[in-house]
Amino acid sequence: VRTAILISGRGSNMQSLVEAAQADDYPAEIVLIASNRPDAAGLDWAKARGLPTLAIDHKKYKTRDVFEAALQDALAAAGTELVALAGFMRLMTSDFVEHWRDRMINIHPSLLPSFKGLHTHERALAAGVKIAGCTVHFVRTEMDEGPIIGQAAVPVLSGDDPATLAARVLAAEHRLYPASLKLVASGLARVEGEKVITLHES
Ligand code: GRF
Repeated sequence: VRTAILISGRGSNMQSLVEAAQADDYPAEIVLIASNRPDAAGLDWAKARGLPTLAIDHKKYKTRDVFEAALQDALAAAGTELVALAGFMRLMTSDFVEHWRDRMINIHPSLLPSFKGLHTHERALAAGVKIAGCTVHFVRTEMDEGPIIGQAAVPVLSGDDPATLAARVLAAEHRLYPASLKLVASGLARVEGEKVITLHES
């Protein structure tokens, strides 16, 4: 399945998907890595490996609609069938989200529906939760909403600060995202009644 990855920064989750997709039996092929920020470190990493990259600087477009139209053109030109958001920091219009309904996934560094939005680790520590984690879900118009494909949990340890917790969650993200993309690309995870039904390989 032809998969595009959208990033805005470091791109470590993108790297985990690219590396997983190198296996012969992985069902997704990474056909484009696009960033709305031309200076995203992840773009340099991908370029250095000869992967197809594109910067679409949202600041150069007058409105969200024309930015998204440029992005749609790039996705279409790459023959994209599935979109994976990986630290992509732009909210999409409902037109864009609906176009990719059940074909666009995102990773969020909390156990949704807890701690949507930014500063998740700070807020998890402030709430005193003992288990943290990450979620991969299909994208809906509301931020960090949508049918959950997979989650991974990690402990919150005494003495954690937002950076140590983020690092522990990130390690889990790097395992969860490739596994979740694999389920979606192989057709084993699909949306029914706004929940994800997962079939298992026999
Ligand atoms: C990750 O924690 C991801 O869950 C969140 O933003 C961070 C992006 O990191 N949405 P990276 O760019 O994938 O390294």
